Amino acid sequence: MLKLLVTPPAGAQTVVEAQEGLSVMEIIRDAGFEALPAFCGGGLSCATCHVYVDPAFAELLPPMSDDEDALLDGAEQRRPASRLSCQIPFGPALDGLAVEIAPDLG
Ligand code: FES
Repeated sequence: MLKLLVTPPAGAQTVVEAQEGLSVMEIIRDAGFEALPAFCGGGLSCATCHVYVDPAFAELLPPMSDDEDALLDGAEQRRPASRLSCQIPFGPALDGLAVEIAPDLG
């Protein structure tokens, strides 16, 4: 079983079963985390899938597109580890990836 470690804002880390082929956003959303509404459904237009990614995995992530970067610039509480989780395809190389959901996404 592939795993994603999800920490909601002000919450405890939870281990979620992760399916290859889904985005990190879809895995978090499907696991029922209301703190990550992902309003645009992965259309790269809402930034309500904002997460902070464990820096240990940074080099395994796909590069950030200019559109993702611009959208994150408009997001509150951007940090160096910020990514939009809908832009991260999940696969075996990311097994054990830890992400923290950014606060105030709703
Ligand atoms: S779900 Fe809207 S930008 Fe990711």
